[in-house]
This record gives sequence, C-alpha cells and structure tokens, in this order.
Amino acid sequence: MKVGIVGTGMVGSAAGYALALRGGASRIVLVDRNAALASAQAEDIAHAVPFAHACAVEAGGYDALHGAAVVILACGVAQKPGESRLSLLTRNRDVFAEVIGQVLAVAPDAILLVASNPVDVMTQIARDLSGLPAERVIGSGTILDTARFRAMLGAHLGVAAQSVHGYVLGEHGDSEVLAWSATRVGSEPVSSFAAQVSAPITEDVRARIDQGVRRAAYRIIEGKGATWYGIGAGLARICQAIRDDQRAVLSVSIVTPEVDGVGPVALSLPRVVGREGVVATLMPELAPDERAGLRASAEILKASAEGL
Ligand code: LAC
Repeated sequence: MKVGIVGTGMVGSAAGYALALRGGASRIVLVDRNAALASAQAEDIAHAVPFAHACAVEAGGYDALHGAAVVILACGVAQKPGESRLSLLTRNRDVFAEVIGQVLAVAPDAILLVASNPVDVMTQIARDLSGLPAERVIGSGTILDTARFRAMLGAHLGVAAQSVHGYVLGEHGDSEVLAWSATRVGSEPVSSFAAQVSAPITEDVRARIDQGVRRAAYRIIEGKGATWYGIGAGLARICQAIRDDQRAVLSVSIVTPEVDGVGPVALSLPRVVGREGVVATLMPELAPDERAGLRASAEILKASAEGL
C-alpha cells in the first residue's frame, strides 16, 4: 500500500518513521513545499528500513502521490507554547485549500488522513474541500488522547495499556471527554478492577489522570517545542487498520451527522476502521456528566467550524 505524507515536519516525518518501523506501508512518499526537507527526511527514514520491514521511502512532488491509498495531511503550523489547537484554524485552513486539490488530482481514490490541528475542524474542512464521503476523510482525532488515557490508567493499575479498554471522545483538545464510565480492564469495569488490585480510582487519581491527558501536549510542547512520537505512532496505527482491513475500533474523527442533536460536526467516537475508511461508529453508554461534556465538545467544534 502506498502512503503519501504531505508536510514533512516533525509530525509528518514521525508518521513516516513509525510507518516504516511498523510495516504499515510498502511505499511511503514524502511531499513538502521545502523539497530539501522532504528529501532529507525520506533518506533518513530509508536508513531505518533495513532494521524493520521492506518498504520504499521516497520524496517527490504531488505527482509522486499517484495511486496512494492513504494520504496523511500533516501540513500547516503547529501549536506554540501555551497556544490552543483551535487558534491555528485560519492559517491551516488556507494551507488545506492549497494542498487538497493537488492531492486528489493524482490520488482520487485515497483516504485522506488528517493530522493538522485543530484536527477536528481541519477534518471537516478537508471533507468539504475534497467532496469525498465523510467515511474517507479521517482525522487522527483522539486516538492519541485515548493512548495517553490508557497509558496513565494502566500505570496506575499496574496493567498493560493494551489491556485498558477506554476511550477519549469529542474534541482532540481542551473539551475532550474521558469516558471513565465505559472503561474496562480486561472484561471488568475499571472501578471493580481497581478495587480488586487495591488501586482505587479516587477523585484525586481521576483528576490527575484527566489533567495528565488533557494537558499532555501543552506540557510536552513546553519542554521540547512540539509533540511528534505519539501522534506519529497513532497515524501509523490508523494506516495499518486501513491496509489490512482490520476493522479495528479506534477513536478517530469524521464528520458526524449529529451528536445529541448537535451537528454535523467532526469529532471522535469509537469507530470501526478498515480498507474503505470508517465502516461503523459506536456510541458508548456514558454517564450523564460525560454525555453533557460530549455535547458541549460538539457545540464548541460546531461553533469553530461555523466561524470560518
Ligand atoms: C498532541 C498534538 C498532536 O496532542 O495535538 O500531541
């Protein structure tokens, strides 16, 4: 499967590197308006391939995206310290207006995988600009927030993050909702499992993990200027689900007709991802406060999109 990546800064190149290590693509094509950067990133990633899976890595112009099954859009500006994701909107909207037509001219059958922030509204912009079905314009959404939630909760409980089945829903951003009430460890509700392993989810633990997830990007950006490894791995995970038609349940963002009467809006819910993109959406049972939070998140995103 050929995967294109437009925008080879930290996020785009990390996605390419994660794809190469994971074996999620047979060919990776890097495109950037800074051709020297794209070429250097491609060469550097290609030197990791002998340690991983066979995969061709190259840089080129938009024409090199011909026939790509997935094109990752990681182009645009990223958050600066203290900057919210939503504040990037108008600058990155203009970038998408320049990029998307050129991508679809050579890869009309591609699934667009949006990484640029604010990723939910950028997903809606990409769907509108491309005219593709919503199911083929996927935003990375809260796939990274869900990973952060599972990692922090797993650390508290002393279990592998892979055994924590919980999701972060709504905006990939400040209004996101950690769906605690629907979270299970193995087949046990998290509260019951926590009691069994004497690691109760007290209000303090819940607040610490909530803030740990919600403020993770701000913390990391303060320390190193940007985030890239987590999102790169998340993008590679989505590509793998597409390439192998895994029908994996991932919290990703697509334009959704309505959530509690609010819509259409792009936000993250648990969705089944396969070769054709999103093939189904699941609406988990939520506690009243979580459902109210999800509605509020949808309203924030809808207002941001309407403000364009
Ligand atoms: C983060 C960026 C990808 O949450 O929005 O790290």
